[in-house]
Amino acid sequence: MSEAREAGIVKLRPGIFNTRRYALIQLRKQMETVLEQFVKPMTDQVVIADYGCGNMPYAPLVEPYTKRYVGIDLVENPRADIHIDREGRIALEDNEVDFVLSTQVLEHVENPVFYLEEAMRILKPGGKLIITTHGYWMFHPDPTDYWRWTSLGLKKIITERGFEIKYFRGMLGRSAIGMQLLQDGFVFKAPNALRAVLALICQPLVYLLDKTTSQSTRDKDAGTFMIVAEKKA
Ligand SMILES: C[S@@+](CC[C@H](N)C(=O)[O-])C[C@H]1O[C@@H](n2cnc3c(N)ncnc32)[C@H](O)[C@@H]1O
Repeated sequence: MSEAREAGIVKLRPGIFNTRRYALIQLRKQMETVLEQFVKPMTDQVVIADYGCGNMPYAPLVEPYTKRYVGIDLVENPRADIHIDREGRIALEDNEVDFVLSTQVLEHVENPVFYLEEAMRILKPGGKLIITTHGYWMFHPDPTDYWRWTSLGLKKIITERGFEIKYFRGMLGRSAIGMQLLQDGFVFKAPNALRAVLALICQPLVYLLDKTTSQSTRDKDAGTFMIVAEKKA
C-alpha cells in the first residue's frame, strides 16, 4: 500500500495511540451521517470534487456513490487529478459536479472567499458543498495555516457566497477541546513512546469531557465544524 493511502487510512481509522483519535472518529461519524442523509438518497451515481484532497482520506466512504471522483489540490500534491492554477482556479466547467467535498481545507486557504466562490461555480444548481474546518485548534501548517472560525463567522462567509446551509454541527465542545489543547501542549515536546502514553491517557479524557457538553453548545463553540451548504437551484 502507498504511503499516501496509508496516511489516509490512519485518518479514517485512527488507532489507540493516535493523538487526534477522538476528533478523527467524530469527523468520520459526521461524514457517514452526512453521506447517508445527502448523498445516498441520490438516484444516480454522482460526480464529487474533493477540493484540497490531500491523501483523500474520505474517498473510501464516498466512492460507493460516485461515477467520478476528482481530487483537486495545490501543484505540490502528486495525488491530485487537477491542480489549481496560479490564480486558484479549477480546470472544471461551471455547474459540473454534484458535490464538493472540503475536509479540513478552509483554514489553510489563502483566500477563503475565492475558494468558496470556485466551489460554488463548479457545483450544479442544487449541488452541495460538504465542508469541515476548525474552530479552536492548534497551528498546523499544510502547507500554510491562516484561519480559525467561529460558528457565526463560518455561517456568514458561506451564506454570503449564496449558499443555503442545510446542516451545521460542532464537534468537540469547549472542555473537550481544552483537554485536546492541554495534551498538545506537552505532546510535541515528548519522545515518541511518551506521545503514545499521552494519547492513551488524554484521548479518553477528551471523550469523557465531550459527554458533558450539549450539542446545542457545541454547535456554537467547537473544535471542528461540519456544514452542508446547497447552491440554490
Ligand atoms: C490539512 S490538509 C487536508 C487534506 C484532506 N482534505 C484531509 O481531510 O486530510 C489541507 C489541504 O488543503 C490544500 N490546500 C491549501 N490551500 C488550497 C487551495 N487554495 N486550494 C485547494 N487546496 C488547498 C493543501 O494542499 C492540503 O492538501
